[in-house]
Amino acid sequence: MTQTITPVEIKPHPVVVPAHPHWPALSAEQKQALKERIKALLKQRNAVLVAHYYTDGDLQELAEETGGCVADSLEMARFGSRQEAQTLVVCGVRFMGETAKILNPEKRILMPDLNATCSLDEGCPADEFSEFCDQHPDHTVVVYANTSARVKARSDWVVTSGIALPIIEHLAARGEKILWAPDKHLGHYVQRMTGADMLLWNGSCVVHEEFKSVALERIRRLHPDAAVLVHPESPEDVIEQADVVGSTTALINAVVEMENSEFIVATDGGIFHKMKQLAPNKKLIAAPTAGEGATCESCAHCPWMGMNALQNLAEVLENQNNEILIDPDIREQAVKPIQRMLDFAQNR
Ligand code: 13P
Ligand code: SF4
Repeated sequence: MTQTITPVEIKPHPVVVPAHPHWPALSAEQKQALKERIKALLKQRNAVLVAHYYTDGDLQELAEETGGCVADSLEMARFGSRQEAQTLVVCGVRFMGETAKILNPEKRILMPDLNATCSLDEGCPADEFSEFCDQHPDHTVVVYANTSARVKARSDWVVTSGIALPIIEHLAARGEKILWAPDKHLGHYVQRMTGADMLLWNGSCVVHEEFKSVALERIRRLHPDAAVLVHPESPEDVIEQADVVGSTTALINAVVEMENSEFIVATDGGIFHKMKQLAPNKKLIAAPTAGEGATCESCAHCPWMGMNALQNLAEVLENQNNEILIDPDIREQAVKPIQRMLDFAQNR
C-alpha cells in the first residue's frame, strides 16, 4: 500500500494544564469508613462505578468490589449500556462521562469532578474543528474518543486507541481520505501502520508527550531483557522503541501474557495498579519523562485523572450533583459515530 501523507499546518490550540490535585492523606480507618459510606450510597442510589485504569487504586478496587468496572475507554463505553443501574458514576475524565451519557440518555451520569477534562479535548474546540471539516468536505471525519460531544457530533466515526487501527484500515481499504483529530501522535502512528491518506489535527496528550526517547534508550540499555510497552499517544521516537504499542488494556494484557520478567511502561502511572494486581511477580519500570526538553522529572500522571478521589466520589453520591447533561440535538448527532465504532468492534 502506498502512503500518502498530506501535511497540514494547524497551530496547536493553547491548553491550560492544572496543577496535580493534592488530596489530604487519609488514615487506614478514615479510608475504610469512606469506602463503606460509598458502598452504602451506591446501593441507595442504584448506582455503579465505571473507572479508568489511570484513576487512584482505591477507586479501581471499589469499582470492582461493587459490581462496576475498571477498563480502557472502549470498554468503559460498552459497559454502561449493559447496566440496569439508573446512575453511572464515571471516575475518569469528562469525555468518558459524556460518552456514557450519549449512549445512555435515560440514565443519570455523575462524575466526582466535572473539571476533569483532557488536553486532547481542550485542544480541539468544536467551532475551529468544524471549520477545518468544512474546508475538507471530501474527507471522512474520524475523531478520537478524547473529544467533546460537539466534536463527536461533527464526525463520521469515533475511535479509541483500542480500535483505531482496524477502523482506519477498513476506511483506507474503501479508498476514503481521512480527516483525523485531535491526537497527532496517534494519528501519525495509525498513518504509518495503515498507509491511509490522513489530514491531522495538531493536538497532543500532555502526559504522553513527556516521554523522552533518548532517556528511554538509556534505560533500555540498563534493562536489555525488558519489554517496552508504549501507549500510542506517545511521540514517534518513543513508539519506535516499543515491543508492544496499544491501548491501556493491551498494555496490561502484555504484562500478563509476555514471558519477560521486566517491562518498561510508557503511559500514565495509574496503570501500574492493575498491572501489579494481575502480575505481582513482574518488575515494572516507569519510562522516563526526564531528559532534554523535559518540563518535569516524572510527570507521567494525568492531572485531570487525579481529580478523582474517594472524598469527592462520596460527595457526589451524597449530593447527586456534577451531572453530565448533553444538548439533545448534539446527542442525536454524536451517538451515530460512537455507535458505528461499537458496531464495528462487535462485528470483528
Ligand atoms: P485508553 O482508551 O487506551 O484507555 O486511553 C485513554 C486515554 O485517555 C489514554 O491517555
Ligand atoms: Fe487526556 Fe492524556 Fe489525560 Fe488521557 S492521559 S485523559 S489523553 S490528558
